[in-house]
Amino acid sequence: MRSIPVRPLPAVDLAVVFLGRRLENPFILSAAPSTDDLDMARAGLEAGWAGVVLKTTSMEGTPVPLAYPMMSTMEWAGRRLVGMGNIDLISEHHIDAVEERVRVLSREFPTKLIAASIMGSSKEAWQALARRLRDAGAHLIECSFSCPQGSMGERPGAMLAQSAPATEKATGWVKEAAGDLPVLIKITPQVADVAEIARAVKNGGADGITASNSVPALMGVDIETFAPIPSLGGFGTYSGFTGPAIKPLTLRTVAEIARHVSLPISGNGGISTWSDAVELFAVGAQNIQICTAVMHHGFRIVDDLCSGLARYMARKGFTKVADMVGKALPHIVEHDELPRRQVRSRVDETACLRCGVCYVACRDGGHRAITMSEERLPVVDDERCVGCGLCPLTCPAGCIRMEAVA
Ligand SMILES: Cc1cc2nc3c(=O)[nH]c(=O)nc-3n(C[C@H](O)[C@H](O)[C@H](O)COP(=O)(O)O)c2cc1C
Repeated sequence: MRSIPVRPLPAVDLAVVFLGRRLENPFILSAAPSTDDLDMARAGLEAGWAGVVLKTTSMEGTPVPLAYPMMSTMEWAGRRLVGMGNIDLISEHHIDAVEERVRVLSREFPTKLIAASIMGSSKEAWQALARRLRDAGAHLIECSFSCPQGSMGERPGAMLAQSAPATEKATGWVKEAAGDLPVLIKITPQVADVAEIARAVKNGGADGITASNSVPALMGVDIETFAPIPSLGGFGTYSGFTGPAIKPLTLRTVAEIARHVSLPISGNGGISTWSDAVELFAVGAQNIQICTAVMHHGFRIVDDLCSGLARYMARKGFTKVADMVGKALPHIVEHDELPRRQVRSRVDETACLRCGVCYVACRDGGHRAITMSEERLPVVDDERCVGCGLCPLTCPAGCIRMEAVA
């Protein structure tokens, strides 16, 4: 059997410094099933992840009434897991168990980031959780203000991070108890003005923000029985939507925060590959938390994340991750500031499959600028074409591009 040659990694530094702590690379396991068990967290760190956020914990005695099955998928065009839904709750393991995990992991992995996530139901609970984690030796506390199944927001079922005053107040409680220990607030993208929430996080005294979390969603309805998906004996509820499909929401959430509020950002939501990670750095994230891609493909994806990122950085001449952070922000403008250019569709006839998909799209969803020739090739009428950009999106051969015209 022929062995596949392994290309050596280029000499770039993947290390990042986040809230005063050096991480060997920017990839962290986010609070999720993969970090809800000591052996699993250990396996993730051994595989090369720079840190873990242990799954969200609570005070002893807090009921965590899990319901099964809890997972569902959004399939599309033959891909099994474009997005994933879960009706999970926080960890069944309370703070006493998590304190012990923090002690063990910080002893076994002194150079990694050992963080823990908390959720309280009162000022006393938030503060006790923070103090106990600080005393156990956690390197960072993340506060889940965004559990999609509802927590202690202003209204029943509302998330804490959907209210700026509640966010600021609860952040202040945690920070008061945590002292010098860095505190991240994990927010939801499901708000009208994410910058307002980020300002509340900052005013409350947090050291940074995790942006963001799963997105509340209804994953589907069985059209034979009308039971929501996942169905638990015919009944269902809203899920937290995660994975590749939510990346655009995360990019926008992180960009909005970075453009309007000066606060260190841990990026999270929809990241599966090194290039996804670069996009998230480019809009302002300083490191990347990942959950669904690990649940789908396992801890070893960290190898691909690191090697792909290192090769990209070497090719682009970036010597450190920080060189990429915020690179896209100067290019993001308001709609009325966009350059107004004349563009038109151009078809590469040599690559055209003559399928007519662009013709139909333009006829029924564009500007009726494409006709089909007798040879079944698309012909663009420059007078009717406005340059909307629909036809290249539909072309299965990728043979249509937009060209600037005078
Ligand atoms: C099954 C499951 C359980 C989760 N539990 C928690 C949790 O306890 N606390 C928390 O802050 N986030 C939790 N999350 C959210 C993830 O940490 C992460 O924010 C979200 O999945 C988006 O990232 P991803 O697209 O990389 O999965 C959970 C996600 C999944 C899929």
